[in-house]
Amino acid sequence: MATTVKNKPKPRRIKESKTILFRQTTLAKAGATCAIINGDSRVELLAFKEKVDLIVTSPPYADARHKHYDSIHPDDFVEWFLSFHEPFYNALKPTGSLVINIKDKVVDGVRHRYVWQTIEALSKAGWYSIEDYLWYKPNPMPGYWPNRLRDGWEYCFHLAKSKRPFFNPDGVRKPIGEWVESRLKNLGKNDLSRHNSANESGFGRDISKWVGKQTVLPSNVLSIPLVGKNKGHPAVFPVDLPLFFIKLLCPENGLVVDPFAGSGTTGIAALSLGRSCILIDNNLKYCEEAVKRVQEEAAATPNEVKFEQHDLAYQLRFIQEAKSEK
Ligand SMILES: C[S@@+](CC[C@H](N)C(=O)[O-])C[C@H]1O[C@@H](n2cnc3c(N)ncnc32)[C@H](O)[C@@H]1O
Repeated sequence: MATTVKNKPKPRRIKESKTILFRQTTLAKAGATCAIINGDSRVELLAFKEKVDLIVTSPPYADARHKHYDSIHPDDFVEWFLSFHEPFYNALKPTGSLVINIKDKVVDGVRHRYVWQTIEALSKAGWYSIEDYLWYKPNPMPGYWPNRLRDGWEYCFHLAKSKRPFFNPDGVRKPIGEWVESRLKNLGKNDLSRHNSANESGFGRDISKWVGKQTVLPSNVLSIPLVGKNKGHPAVFPVDLPLFFIKLLCPENGLVVDPFAGSGTTGIAALSLGRSCILIDNNLKYCEEAVKRVQEEAAATPNEVKFEQHDLAYQLRFIQEAKSEK
């Protein structure tokens, strides 16, 4: 289980921390709070040993060309990400899950395979690869490349500490769709019993079982449009992405963490579902943006669980000064 990792930050002693209550409002669940922490998640997560139900996040881009605010060279990405392995693993409960939204970068016209390599390295470090979800973007960015088309999807890897992490498929059921009504109106002979596939694949279906059903389970392809407006951060994912995984993988009173929180999208999703959350980003500017967005957008997100009127306190905690332990 233990992995030796270079570049691992030394634990820091937090000298002073300040809690500012910045919002009191009404939202889905009594007692749900959102703490926004400005710090390195490898350090901040030390305080949450086996407390977390779900880590859902999109790490910084690997970029070979630019020295971005947070870019890591694709060749260094595996080692860099492994420095988060222990903090993430230790923070999660035994039934907890880690969802990583990520996409390989193109380097010199060729897809770099650091994402596959990272997932492979995490498996070797002890994570179970439960499922690979695809985030399909119906509105991909425009562009022209000599050897490939517009990029219309990203990975969302579901990793876990056990083979049976908390899993609530009923939480993500979706309306069955209008086509079923017309299809079920005229059930044929083959539809009234299990109909095995003609190619003897072993798969089959019994359409008559769908009569009266209002909802179905979705597949592992999530169709979610890209965020249109810039939210004060260059790499914002849509609220519906963390929202889906929180409903699927975090129990009702559970705790969600986004260790690369950026503009706070995961916090908006968590609070709208009545889940408490911890948002961590090492860039103060993005923490401030997250505070603003959570204040403005959490209450506005359509509520998908029972809406109860309760007073909630969203907490903002800025670690003011922290020093490396000698
Ligand atoms: C791709 S962005 C996340 C964007 C976010 N999903 C959103 O919707 O706004 C990755 C973030 O990770 C942060 N980051 C990079 N290294 C970090 C670290 N060691 N600890 C905490 N945050 C870090 C960066 O500042 C950046 O905002």
